[in-house]
Parts: sequence; C-alpha cells; structure tokens
Amino acid sequence: MKPQCCDIALRPAHAEDLPALLALEAQFPGDRMTARQFRRHLHSASARFQVAQQGVAVIGASLLFFRSGSDSARLYSLIVAASARAQGIGARLLADAEQAARDRDCQWLRLEVRTDNTAAIALYQRAGYRVVGQRPGYYDDGAAALRMQRAL
Ligand SMILES: CC(C)(COP(=O)(O)OP(=O)(O)OC[C@H]1O[C@@H](n2cnc3c(N)ncnc32)[C@H](O)[C@@H]1OP(=O)(O)O)[C@@H](O)C(=O)NCCC(=O)NCCS
Repeated sequence: MKPQCCDIALRPAHAEDLPALLALEAQFPGDRMTARQFRRHLHSASARFQVAQQGVAVIGASLLFFRSGSDSARLYSLIVAASARAQGIGARLLADAEQAARDRDCQWLRLEVRTDNTAAIALYQRAGYRVVGQRPGYYDDGAAALRMQRAL
C-alpha cells in the first residue's frame, strides 16, 4: 500500500530554508537554481515559493511564476527529496500550486519538462497536463523540453 503523506505540511518558503532548498536542488536532474536566484524568488511578488515540510525537514518545493496581465501561471520548479518520492507529495505540491494560480485568476498553468524526465511527465499527464509543444536545446546541457499545460 502507498505510504500516506498526512504528516506533511505545505507552507511558504523563507530564507532559513535556503540550505535545505539547495540540497534538494542538488538532486535535480538538470539546470539548478543558485542561492541568489532562490533569494530573489523568495522576495518577489510575482513568484510563489512553497515548501513541503515533514517534522523539521524540508522535503519538497514548488516555485510558481505569475506575470501581470497574463491569464497563465508558470510552474518553474517542482521537486521532492529522493527519499520522499512516490508518496503523493509531488501531486500534492502540484495541486497546491494549481489552486494558488486559480486564486490569482489564472486560467492556465504552463510548464516545461525535460523530454527524458519520465517521472515528472507521468505526474503531469496524470494531473491533466497535455503536451503543447517542444523547446529544442532548452536546458544548459542541450536537452529539449516538452511544453505542457492544463486549463485550471
Ligand atoms: C517528479 C517528482 C516531483 C514526483 O514527485 P513524487 O512525490 O515522487 O510524485 P507522486 O508520488 O506525487 O506521484 C504522483 C504520480 O506521478 C507519477 N509518477 C511519479 N513518479 C513516477 C515515476 N518514477 N515513474 C512513473 N510515474 C511516476 C505517477 O502517476 C504517480 O501517481 P501513482 O503513484 O498514483 O501512479 C519527483 O520525482 C522529483 O522531484 N523529481 C526530480 C525533480 C523533477 O524532475 N521535477 C520536475 C521538473 S519539471
């Protein structure tokens, strides 16, 4: 049976989370955010940085961008610690980001994902995202991205 993630709380990220967020990013396959980028997003009105916490440990995060005058939000980052995967935390962070986008009157949530990231693509497809295009050479290492979106 799938483990439950009921003891996991989602909350806004703050500056004290930075070391944990950088450690999470180190598990990410591909481009990584720097400490400076993290700090900028923490304080940006057009970004929503959310973390998943279990006990005192930060075990996941999502980063959502808004653009004024746009009816779509962009999921820039979604990550769950390798040790905490397959417990529904990624799906929960995603649903939480979607609700935040709805609350800001967005009609769409868009994202890019590496074409070889089967786990993330499966998560997004299961949540109702559809592939709407590709971006060749999108990542620093030259890998292509799929563009996906869903109506909110
Ligand atoms: C992608 C990621 C966020 C998924 O997080 P997670 O907490 O393990 O995902 P969940 O447990 O919520 O899984 C939800 C659904 O996603 C799909 N899924 C997740 N991991 C999968 C895997 N390894 N293989 C196939 N499907 C997978 C499944 O459909 C799953 O539902 P199910 O288990 O009921 O079938 C996680 O693997 C991760 O952090 N990867 C590294 C960072 C990354 O690639 N982020 C996305 C960048 S665009």
